Amino acid sequence: MRKQLVKEVEKSFKDHFETEPLLVFSPGRINLIGEHTDYNDGFAFPAAINKGIVLAISKNGSNNSTVYALNKEELYKFSNDNIRPIEDGGWRNYIIGVVAELQLFGKPVGNFNAVFAGNIPGGAGMSSSAALENSFVFGLNELFNLGLTKNEMILISQKAEHNYAGVKCGIMDQYASMFGVKNSALFLDCRTVEAEPYKIDFKNYKLMLINSNVKHDLSESAYNDRRAVCEKVSNLMQVKALRDASKEDLMRIKEDITEEDYQKALYVINENERVKLFSEAINRYDIEALGDLLYQSHEGLSTNYKVSCEELDFLVEKAKENDAVLGARMMGGGFGGCTINLILKSEFKDFKKDISKKFKKSFGKECSIYSVKLSQGTHIIN
Ligand code: GLA
Repeated sequence: MRKQLVKEVEKSFKDHFETEPLLVFSPGRINLIGEHTDYNDGFAFPAAINKGIVLAISKNGSNNSTVYALNKEELYKFSNDNIRPIEDGGWRNYIIGVVAELQLFGKPVGNFNAVFAGNIPGGAGMSSSAALENSFVFGLNELFNLGLTKNEMILISQKAEHNYAGVKCGIMDQYASMFGVKNSALFLDCRTVEAEPYKIDFKNYKLMLINSNVKHDLSESAYNDRRAVCEKVSNLMQVKALRDASKEDLMRIKEDITEEDYQKALYVINENERVKLFSEAINRYDIEALGDLLYQSHEGLSTNYKVSCEELDFLVEKAKENDAVLGARMMGGGFGGCTINLILKSEFKDFKKDISKKFKKSFGKECSIYSVKLSQGTHIIN
């Protein structure tokens, strides 16, 4: 599947620009556990996957840069000078954001031609935006010999997301996409921005992603609101981030904050703990414990942190009713996208059929089911 995508992108590039491009693959990500912990300096457990963005890129001698989004069949020409975020600019903002943030970092780039396409389902919570940002920062670093480290590159990608897409995201997505390791998930410390790869082998179980195919509108503002609450509560506790607080610390200021804010901070403190428990359970091959932690995580995301939605709660409830599923939870920022499920390999097909039918019956629309491979991070293909 990826080979086909590479072929199409390469061909389109040659048709448009009649030169040989540099080809980059940048993956999307899943997250086993540790949701909304990254911007709290906490822990997360993401992995790069075998779906992503293919970018073909080369320098050009002209006064403009030209980018063609192959999936959307949209062409965009821009000047590298005076870049500003574009209102409702969609994919364009990620690219000009990367160019502008490189300039601010003291690494301006020359003009370039590019074609990109991807196979990450949009709005699925699998970080197609981080994959896109990383593909460009990686490709530009290579083309213009910027000498950036991968850590510097992901900070540029993150800033593009903050300042051009308007989402004050943490570092998990960009990290996982850039640093992914084959067959492994990354136990990521979002404060030090360092990770330990864990080989993932769930024995008779495997991961199943179920895409609700919904993306509720409020997701961006609600995301930024959550982040603001976390910062407000940690300021009150006089800690740098919620990662540094215990439940007892939070209890001490309970009277000074609203019940909603208390519940949200409590969720983050608990979730951060769950990531550590998850890593220990992996080391013990305790698959049942992993499943329990997934269900607990969903419960917290849904009732305390309030970033789930009817469709996601439904998918997790139905998973609970099936003995073949050990655990499930919503994945990513929330308000739509996927659930991640730990399911007996031998029951994958049956559960797929069953859940698809039930989802259709309840919501009158289809859900989509994927299985993914844990894969290498952003890299050059040719
Ligand atoms: C989005 C953000 C990430 C992270 C997750 C929630 O994917 O981009 O930084 O906060 O939501 O865990």
